[in-house]
Amino acid sequence: MPSIGIIGAGVSGLTCGVLFAERGHKVSIFAEKTGQTTTSGAAAALWFPYDAEPAEKVIPWALATFEMLVELTRNVRTGVSMIELRQFSRTNQVQIPEWATSLGAKFLEARLLPGAFQSGFSLRVPLMDTTTYLDHLADRFVAAGGELHEDRRLERLEDVDAKFDVVLNCAGIGAQHLTGDADLEPHRGQVAIVPVIDQVPCAIVCNDPPLTYVIPRKNDCVWGGTNEISNNLDIDSTLTSAIISECSRLLKIEPPPILNQRVGLRPFRKSGVRLESGRLADGRIVVHNYGHGGSGFTLSWGCADEVFRLSTRQA
Ligand code: BEZ
Repeated sequence: MPSIGIIGAGVSGLTCGVLFAERGHKVSIFAEKTGQTTTSGAAAALWFPYDAEPAEKVIPWALATFEMLVELTRNVRTGVSMIELRQFSRTNQVQIPEWATSLGAKFLEARLLPGAFQSGFSLRVPLMDTTTYLDHLADRFVAAGGELHEDRRLERLEDVDAKFDVVLNCAGIGAQHLTGDADLEPHRGQVAIVPVIDQVPCAIVCNDPPLTYVIPRKNDCVWGGTNEISNNLDIDSTLTSAIISECSRLLKIEPPPILNQRVGLRPFRKSGVRLESGRLADGRIVVHNYGHGGSGFTLSWGCADEVFRLSTRQA
């Protein structure tokens, strides 16, 4: 059974780690950042295919992940729960995409449309509370015998210790420096974390401009968002003000206090998610699993399954 060295401890690396370790492989994860400091830690983490291509691959991976996440809702300690998602459009009559129809999406009646919106649909989807779910994955990985090596920035894929037969590249935006992939583009996202808001029983997403979302979690609420090509990790207070003002306007409430602000770089890949195997300069098998854009959580289990098939077919 091949041993596996994984680069990256965001949701993609951890999910692959759990899957391989629970199937009996010896697995180590090497990561510069872990937990809340990763891009995944800054994510809204609602199951929602967003900013990832191509649809014909992304949707099957997303639907496979959906099923797995629904299973995880059976244990509250995972941090995964089901929530009603309402997707709105400011400008036109939304079309319900086929993937949403297959999950039971329904158009929203006019009385459920906040004033700023023309139309919308709703469906129930998994929501991952990143403050719990990333720890759940890490704990599950370690319980299955996996080793997590923190503070390990690798410069090349070949830097994964030669004792590992297969290397998985789950480095997210870090794949830029590891592979030199010119297709990978940082889609910067900034969010504001505000207190729980009683008037918000469901997740709200409007992805016609300006990208806006309100995602209630157990202990707080994530307000977003932004999406621009930039690798600047500094908080931009002007953007936070714009997010707070637009979300308060939509919800018709006074601007709440800001508990925290977060920035993450969505690893968007212009030619589509990279999920393929190859060979390293030293002859080892590498499986690339990056470029998930704003859909890292949404694609995590479906992609991990395909990584498993690719690695075990070749090794
Ligand atoms: C985001 O990438 O900001 C995002 C993704 C899914 C749902 C909401 C926001």
